[in-house]
Amino acid sequence: MVQFEKLVWKTDWNTGIDSIDQQHQKLLMAINVLHRQFDPSTDRPQAERLFDALEAYARIHFEHEEKLLYQTKYADLANHRTQHQDFFSEIKIHREQAKADSELNDAIADMLAYLLDWLISHILEVDMKYSPHLLKAGVK
Ligand SMILES: [Fe+2]
Repeated sequence: MVQFEKLVWKTDWNTGIDSIDQQHQKLLMAINVLHRQFDPSTDRPQAERLFDALEAYARIHFEHEEKLLYQTKYADLANHRTQHQDFFSEIKIHREQAKADSELNDAIADMLAYLLDWLISHILEVDMKYSPHLLKAGVK
């Protein structure tokens, strides 16, 4: 399995919106937990459950974010929503690959790398853009 370091939250990743930052940190934690709990003896049903939990939390977080953006009439909401939907499409593809792959560990490692990369780049490049908008609208 690819070596994977536990990722620690960096203050640079804060958007300044407390509820969003807390959820982003929880997502990062979920990825770390997923990695920690996943060992070579882990069976497929357990891996499936771990990913289900992560996906469910991502859904809660995206809904929260989209609700705030909708309520404050964020101009780029449609684009942002598309990015969230693309995330689930990508996860679906990865999960199907993992199912088909006899090397479950490699497939899971690939997926973890993807998840982390997505989360960090999404926060830094996309979420940061709405931060001034929400702060101006009085959202904390
Ligand atoms: Fe987002």
